[in-house]
Amino acid sequence: MTAYRSGGLQVRHVAEAGAPYRAIRVEKLTPIIGAEIGGVDLSRPLAPVQVEEIGRALAENLVIFFREQDLAPAQHIAFGRLFGDLHLHPAAPHVEGLPELMIIRADRDSRRANGEDWHSDVSCDAEPPMGSILRIDECPDEGGDTLFASMYAAYDALSERMKAYLDGLQAVHDGENVYRGAYANFGVQDKAAYPRAEHPVVRTHPVTGRKALYVNRIFTTRILGLPREEGDALLAFLLAHAESPLWQCRFRWRKNSMAFWDNRCAQHRAMWDYWPKTRSGFRVTVKGEKPA
Ligand code: SIN
Repeated sequence: MTAYRSGGLQVRHVAEAGAPYRAIRVEKLTPIIGAEIGGVDLSRPLAPVQVEEIGRALAENLVIFFREQDLAPAQHIAFGRLFGDLHLHPAAPHVEGLPELMIIRADRDSRRANGEDWHSDVSCDAEPPMGSILRIDECPDEGGDTLFASMYAAYDALSERMKAYLDGLQAVHDGENVYRGAYANFGVQDKAAYPRAEHPVVRTHPVTGRKALYVNRIFTTRILGLPREEGDALLAFLLAHAESPLWQCRFRWRKNSMAFWDNRCAQHRAMWDYWPKTRSGFRVTVKGEKPA
């Protein structure tokens, strides 16, 4: 049996992939990405087998969803800590006194909503977050869905020639244009500078060992080591390719729904199609490692 470690999470993924679940229910949304998890109340202490199986369900499905989870802020934070140390967002507002609890909110007065284009959270960090755990406590009856896409599937679908061409390429991920001024309506003062990092265009997931495409429309600004026009054309192709509906799922929120996604192999995009209604919740984000 091969065991992998990622943050606080230990997953025996290779030997147990496809093994039955004993402590949770897992219902796949598509064969490629997404699963709804049942049989678990995240407001109560979890048994080690439940934590291990939630981690395995995440590794196998890239994003997992929970319904009817009425968690207090401390319970949401405690659930995140089961999977590693928590990441603090470089720009977004958080609940007063709880920097780990990022506020996600759009309403009648908003000029933007979080995650309105395809991205992997905070990929501009030198060590971008491993996972994000969003709980929604107010949402419209229709609209405000979140779309998720598998970057394993996006990579696998490339030709062998393209995979060889991408091997070893690095790209710039820049938070400056994304974050400057973005949270002024929450009263957040801009910082002097925002993170900027260089990451491989294809990364290997530390838990599953699979390769995933790692460029996204919000943060990736250029591919290094190529003439500018060639790099820009390649990036434009990769971004469009990553967003194919062939490897997407779409989640419809209800009050007290939660989603836990793996930023290392999935991208997501939130739909702001519900103005002037309100959608709000909180996100806990788990630290990750330098992409390899
Ligand atoms: C985000 O974390 O990017 C926002 C996702 C969402 O609001 O659905």
